[in-house]
Amino acid sequence: MKILAIIGSPRTNGNTYRAVNQIERELNKKNEEIEFEYVQLNRISLELCKGCYVCIAKGEDKCPLKDDRESLEIKMKQADAVIFASPVYTYNVSWIMKNFLDRFAYRCHRPEFHGKKAMVVVTTGAVGIRFVTLILSFMLGAMGFITCAKAGITFAPPHETDEKKSKKETNKLIRQTEVFYKNLIDAKPVKPSFVKLLTFKMQQKAFSKAPQNLADFKYWRDKGWLEKTEDYYYKVPVRKVNKIIVSLISKLKV
Ligand SMILES: Cc1cc2nc3c(=O)[nH]c(=O)nc-3n(C[C@H](O)[C@H](O)[C@H](O)COP(=O)(O)O)c2cc1C
Repeated sequence: MKILAIIGSPRTNGNTYRAVNQIERELNKKNEEIEFEYVQLNRISLELCKGCYVCIAKGEDKCPLKDDRESLEIKMKQADAVIFASPVYTYNVSWIMKNFLDRFAYRCHRPEFHGKKAMVVVTTGAVGIRFVTLILSFMLGAMGFITCAKAGITFAPPHETDEKKSKKETNKLIRQTEVFYKNLIDAKPVKPSFVKLLTFKMQQKAFSKAPQNLADFKYWRDKGWLEKTEDYYYKVPVRKVNKIIVSLISKLKV
């Protein structure tokens, strides 16, 4: 099993890296065969998104920025699961993680990662965990990732070391690693929530009407997702009552 850890901190081997490193050690205690690969976003070449829309309209292969984006995407595809980690910087994800999200924004339209499991790790000095975890897992969900564990860890400044508090944070990390591991070894396809089923139908409706030269249209057509009989990005049983309600709601003009 291969896990890719994407560390969104501008600080090499900082707190965020250290938290994920501890997750690696905990996972290896459970299963020595788990392979870890780290990508520290500050150590690869990922240019700043220029907002030109080329990736969305024409395809990511036409992106004018020539850097490590494509090889990073290949790594994400090849991994069995991905850990996304960011520090809280001014009550948000770090700029480097935000740029990562922007550079992969086309994946919210062309969600290649459906069904892939993820863990979100957020580190902070004091506050912001809830908000940053929410925003990060929401965006990853739009790309298709299933966030099955979330760990928010507070790193007190060095002059404030409190053994009891730091043990509590470690225990939080261990508990969430266990949740992540249980999900990793569960091979059953994850049942989508009602909202996710609805999102699929709404996207299906929107992209079937899109211009045929738009990258999104071609992607959805080639995946076979524009067929009305398709209920979700991957094969999973859907209750008939849910199918009917989703179909009715998606027909409403919004
Ligand atoms: C620019 C900057 C902004 C920060 N903003 C916040 C914040 O809004 N709330 C908070 O509690 N901690 C904040 N912190 C503290 C970091 O979240 C915390 O030290 C984190 O663990 C740093 O991780 P890193 O070493 O991987 O960068 C900030 C730190 C920096 C450098």
